[in-house]
Amino acid sequence: METSFWKSVPIRSSEITPKSLYLRRREFLKLGALGTAAALLAACGNAEDAAPVTPSRQPLQSGQDEYGDPVTSYEAITNYNNYYEFSTDKEAVARLAEDFQTRPWTIEVSGLVAKPRVFDIDDLLKKFPQEERIYRLRCVEGWSMVIPWLGFPLAKLLKEVEPLGSARYVSFLSVSRPEEMLGIRSSFYPWPYREGLRLDEALHDLTILASGLYGEMLPNQNGAPLRLVVPWKYGFKSAKAIVKIELTEQQPETFWNLIAPDEYGFYSNVNPQKPHPRWSQATERRIGESGRRPTLMFNGYAEEVAHLYEGMDLNKYY
Ligand code: MTE
Repeated sequence: METSFWKSVPIRSSEITPKSLYLRRREFLKLGALGTAAALLAACGNAEDAAPVTPSRQPLQSGQDEYGDPVTSYEAITNYNNYYEFSTDKEAVARLAEDFQTRPWTIEVSGLVAKPRVFDIDDLLKKFPQEERIYRLRCVEGWSMVIPWLGFPLAKLLKEVEPLGSARYVSFLSVSRPEEMLGIRSSFYPWPYREGLRLDEALHDLTILASGLYGEMLPNQNGAPLRLVVPWKYGFKSAKAIVKIELTEQQPETFWNLIAPDEYGFYSNVNPQKPHPRWSQATERRIGESGRRPTLMFNGYAEEVAHLYEGMDLNKYY
């Protein structure tokens, strides 16, 4: 594992969302008939004001998550990225991904399905209306962000191809273009990047395919044109720039599990009680805040997803 992956980064003033910028983006959302009038009324809090105490659920307001935490700044979300196909340096990814071509683009959905299909990205985005979902992203490295995604439930796409009764898992393959993605030239990694979910996890309403953030098209560095988002799992489960989705009977291989099986299991649910072999997962640093806050079981989505793992030993299935 390269050390730059674990490097900590000082908090910069650019990590704090300027309110005017966020409201402008909300305006864009409204114009696109994607937002609500209420969205424009909400102010965006200053991330540095947040106290490092265990958060509790609050009435949902625009511009913040269900724990009342403000969205992370656009600048931080789009300039602090893990995307190994481009670089292991988080702050270099945005620049290196600038010229990456995301059109034309197709996504094959195949395997154990009655109606395998290849979708053109623009047809797909027209077919499934994009909605805003404000989710926490907790990286296995110990930092987190609150991201206002635009996307649609993966379940809608899977229903379209009619999974067969024998399908138990879903695998996701990221694009591999060494001529555009310099990081792929490193033979240390088992390219292409790939991830997997159990079928019931994939069909859960929280699981989305994201095509945008902050009401705009997804920037290349965040996984354009379409990436997976599974908010109760560590961020590495959310594969970027997906070109193939396959339904399988066997549990699929995953990129990080192939590299270090003792450190990264198939499930990778956010679990503060299960330390990574080399560090604790009990706390996290919210980008834009100083200090650390407690990490919540299933990243704060236990109410929605804990039932998926009833009866499972989460120390064994990490
Ligand atoms: N997808 C691909 N194809 N390649 C990657 O290196 N990194 C993962 C995940 N998806 C990665 C990927 C990791 S480690 C994280 S934490 C998230 O993307 C980061 O997403 P973000 O840059 O949008 O915050």
